[in-house]
Amino acid sequence: MQRRSFLRRTGLALGAGAVLPSLSFTSPSNVSLDSWANVRSQFLLDPKRIHMAQMFLASHPKPVRDAIDHHRKMFDESPVEYWEHNWKTMEPEMCKAAANYIQADPTEVALTDSTTMGLGLLYTGFQLKEGDDILSTTHDHYATDKSLEYAAAKNKATIRRVTLYKEASNATADEMVGTLTKAIQPNTKLVAVTWVHSVSGMKLPIRTIADAIKSINSNRSDQDRIYFCVDGVHGFGVEDVTMADLGCDFFAASTHKWIFGPRGTGILWGRKDAWNKVVPTIPAFSYPAYGMWLGMIPQGKLNFCDLHSPGGFHSFENRWALKEAFDFHMQIGKKKVADRTHQLGSMLKEGLRGVNHIKLHTPVSTELSSGINCFEVEGMTSEEAIKKLSTKKIIGSAAPYPISYARLTPSIINNEEEVKMCIAALEKIKE
Ligand SMILES: Cc1ncc(COP(=O)(O)O)c(C=O)c1O
Repeated sequence: MQRRSFLRRTGLALGAGAVLPSLSFTSPSNVSLDSWANVRSQFLLDPKRIHMAQMFLASHPKPVRDAIDHHRKMFDESPVEYWEHNWKTMEPEMCKAAANYIQADPTEVALTDSTTMGLGLLYTGFQLKEGDDILSTTHDHYATDKSLEYAAAKNKATIRRVTLYKEASNATADEMVGTLTKAIQPNTKLVAVTWVHSVSGMKLPIRTIADAIKSINSNRSDQDRIYFCVDGVHGFGVEDVTMADLGCDFFAASTHKWIFGPRGTGILWGRKDAWNKVVPTIPAFSYPAYGMWLGMIPQGKLNFCDLHSPGGFHSFENRWALKEAFDFHMQIGKKKVADRTHQLGSMLKEGLRGVNHIKLHTPVSTELSSGINCFEVEGMTSEEAIKKLSTKKIIGSAAPYPISYARLTPSIINNEEEVKMCIAALEKIKE
């Protein structure tokens, strides 16, 4: 199909004499990111504060800010022309950047606005039938819980939630995997978990669970296969793994947390042989999807990216700056990011373990923890502890769960000195 004829059919063809705005932005990567101080210098974070809650909502590094500014300027100058000139190429570019980061095929990556959107689309679009069983846990976020409830109600399926550990700091991988897999029933069709629990900091052994499910599936027909879905947001941007390493079927994450990407962006990844299990909820605006509807592209099977990236117009200045966020991580190196985040987190946990009035909930082992560190201060609620820390200019967060712990989450924008200051502030928090 000719682009011009597609645009005429959508009523958007430009006048003959129109001058198209300059092509899409390419960020200069002339800044060296080989020291953590240089990495930090890329952010406009207030240097008078210690920022320990980037996992909640991130600040953007310079290349992301520059890309957003550029796209916003171009949209403000001539929105329709800028969109027309770039829409067909920009979204596939973003999928490609995400796919490169997770070592997957770009056709497997749908663009979303958040983890919540990805999970909502995944679970409510999941093909279940009456009597099918969904197995989940008691440690998941509101976004998973509610999406599963809507899915169960829609399909007359059941949900069972198992508790994998009573106390995260004492849990073992074997115990958790054993508890989860033992709860799988013949009618279980969907297992839904969270990679890193934002309520406790626990990191689940996703690959071991995937292998256990694969082994159960080897004795089932394709029709009875269990699908394994993961809310991956708090491992994404921390751990040095690929989708193949994780071994799940679907993976949802936003990119406005540990990836430091534009606010209102995220991905939903689907393994090719699982695509058929999900039906779309929001029509995609991809070139192939819309073109087929217009009758200008022969009807055919759409890939996951083209079918499951929800359409409607978006805050494109943000969405189209996602590539720069992935590039930023790749320029530093995924392993370096993982090692640094674990190093600072371990330092914090070791320090907190020695404070009498602190109860650390997150496992110390990096096998079972990622970048989130959860704790309680004796005699204080999590909100009170976080408020008290903020008077010392330390920005943490209280986990938004019915039972809430305080969280400090050092990342690659922090340093050892800041971690020491957090430990010192917590030593004196009751004074
Ligand atoms: C485990 C988990 N899943 C999902 C979400 C929702 O994230 P989003 O803002 O990307 O929808 C959060 C929020 O922090 C979370 O902690």
